[in-house]
Order: sequence, then C-alpha cells, then structure tokens
Amino acid sequence: MLDDATASSLSSLSLSELCEEVADQFKARFGDEPCWMVAAPGRVNLIGEHTDYNGGFVLPAAIDRYVVIAAGPSADETARLVAADIADEAKIQVRGAIHPGPVMWANYIQGVVAGFAARGVRLPCFNALLRSTVPLGGGLSSSAALEVATATMLEAMLEEELDPIEKALLCQEAEHKFAGVPCGIMDQFSSVLCQQDSFMLLDCRSQSVELIALDAPDITILIANSNVKHELTGGEYARRRAECETAAQILGVATLRDATCEQLESFREQLGTTNHRRAKHVVGEIARTLEAVQAIRDSRWQDVGELMYASHASLRDDYEVSCAELNLLVDIAQGIGKPNGVIGSRMTGGGFGGCTVSLVKTSAAESVAESLAEQYFQKTGIQPTLFTTRPARGAHRIK
Ligand code: GLA
Repeated sequence: MLDDATASSLSSLSLSELCEEVADQFKARFGDEPCWMVAAPGRVNLIGEHTDYNGGFVLPAAIDRYVVIAAGPSADETARLVAADIADEAKIQVRGAIHPGPVMWANYIQGVVAGFAARGVRLPCFNALLRSTVPLGGGLSSSAALEVATATMLEAMLEEELDPIEKALLCQEAEHKFAGVPCGIMDQFSSVLCQQDSFMLLDCRSQSVELIALDAPDITILIANSNVKHELTGGEYARRRAECETAAQILGVATLRDATCEQLESFREQLGTTNHRRAKHVVGEIARTLEAVQAIRDSRWQDVGELMYASHASLRDDYEVSCAELNLLVDIAQGIGKPNGVIGSRMTGGGFGGCTVSLVKTSAAESVAESLAEQYFQKTGIQPTLFTTRPARGAHRIK
C-alpha cells in the first residue's frame, strides 16, 4: 500500500494555488500587494545526458513544478529577499560592484542581478518573496528555475524582454560565477524556452531549438526522487567536463559532437581507458537522443524505452555518474516492466543521486509509482518521492 507520504507526494500545489499563497505571504511580510509576479519551471531531461557541454543534443521538458517570485518596489539601497519555504531572509546589492555574498540561495538571484547590471541596466530596488515546488538538489534544475525566475522578474520590473537565448545565457553565467558550478546550457534554456506538451530538442552547438510534441495522452512522465545526494561539491562534474575536453583534443575535434565511433576505436590507445569510456558515452548518447526523437515522432514508444535503458547503462558504466540508489530505481522500474506499464527509465540530470525519469502508461502510473516506492523502501530504508508531470510551459510573467 502507498503510505500517506508517498501518496501526497504524487501531487503538489498547482501553479495558481502556489501563486495565490505567494501573493498572500508577500502581503503579510511587506504590507502591500506585489506589483510583479513570475514563475519559472524546473525541467526533466528525457535523454541526452552530459552532452550539452560537448555541443550535443538534449531532450528535456519543463515540469509543472515552479519557482514563483512576488516582488514590489522598495526605497532601500539594497534588495530584500525572503525565501518563504525555509523562512530565511537575505539582502543583496543591485548597484555598484556586485560580488557573491554569504547566503548561498541568494547568490543565484544576486548573480542574475549582476548580469543585468553588467548590461548597463539601472535596476530599481525591490522586495521579493519566493517559494519553490521544484525539489532542491534533485537533478530537476531547481537552481536554474530560481535564476530564470529572477531574470523574468527583472524583465517585468524593467518592462523590457531580453532575447530568450541571451536571457538563458545570462542565467548560465550567474550559475558559473555566483554558484561556482560549470554547468552547460540545458537547464537554463529549458526553464526559459520549453513549451507546454512538448519536449525541447536543443542543439547545444548551434543553440537552436525544435519542439517535439508529446501528444499521446496514454503516456505519462513519472519522476522518482531517490532522496539521496552523494556529490555535493560539483568536483566530479568539472572532472567529467575536463575528461571530455582532453578526449576531444586527442581526437583533434572541437568538441565530442564532431567525433565518430570509428575515431574512438582508432584512438583507443592514445585516449586511455577512462577518456575513451567518457567519449564513448557522449558519442553514443548524442546518437541515442536523435534516435529517440525519431521514435517519438513515429510513436515507437518501446524503442524510446530501450534507448532510455541504454542511456542509463552508459551513464552507469562508461560515464560513471550514477549511484546504487539510481541504479536500483531503474532496475525496479525495468522489473515492473512492459506488461505492467513501464516503457523506459533512466537517471536524469547530473547524477550522483537525485531523480530517475520513467515513461509509463498513464493508466498504470499510480500502480507503478506505488510498487517503485514500496520496493525501493524495502531495499534501502529510504522513502522516495514520486510525482507525475506533463511537459509544462517555460518561464512567464503572472502579474
Ligand atoms: C547538470 C548541468 C547541465 C547538464 C546536466 C547533465 O544538470 O547543469 O548543464 O550538463 O547536468 O546532462
């Protein structure tokens, strides 16, 4: 049986409920209605993992979990921020030389403010209150959602919209400079550019986007959060990036996007075991992503599922960014299998914990979630968090 915690984790506040609560909390804290309200979603990547910083393809969708910010003008010299979920407050600078401050969550906002300031924009001072239904640190881009929500709030204040690609890149730069994470472009592009009912095929080399409709009501995206996080510093992520760059250099290509399987074989010795395996994952994953797009277009869902399992195996064995708990979730899903409504499953996001993404038959979503939760808990003693989602709309202004 699903216990109450698992059952309630399948649903979350709707966007409109969340916005109502955020507006009320803003009023209670600052005394006025907010002037501006914005929402930016997290994302789930269906396939195309650790390919973005190699100039490859990714296939994420926005999820219906959001960072919502309510804001109003203030007469102060600094901006006052309230993170209502954790009952914490911080002040950030909006003018002059802007540097990372002591409060980690506020730095994501500070970094985006700095990006606007660097473009020569004079920002008004403001009070802001934020909440998030994107699980924190679960590989669903909670930090990109916070950055993109901030950029959307500043656009609303300035009554000026940035070019969407410029906006996503500004947010990525904030993550690099103010959070110290050398991420690729997938997460911020997803939060800005994803559209309802579609996956977004992003070519990370040309930065061009194509929407791939998910218009099959009988297919549902099920996200399972392992509720473990093994890697806290981002060191492994930076190491993988460096290994890919070294491999590309040895192969004599600009990025691994330009490498072929044949090249990898003929340079096997020069690459050495580790770099060869890293590059093999990337080259294979880029091909799998394009194959998955074609399979979705043709409604060949079992093929999509097989590609997801192959992606997971490659991330586990060659790229080495999975962990026991993620492998277990994927194994359990695969064990539940086709006859019981599971189409495919894999880890999603950077890895070392966080979430898996599964495609399941809509009619079986509840029973699959129940049995995943039960078996995972039995083997680990950890309650996972599960929820279903449809591809959601990217960041937008609410008010
Ligand atoms: C993190 C990064 C992304 C991407 C994924 C792995 O989410 O922020 O840029 O590299 O890992 O696909």
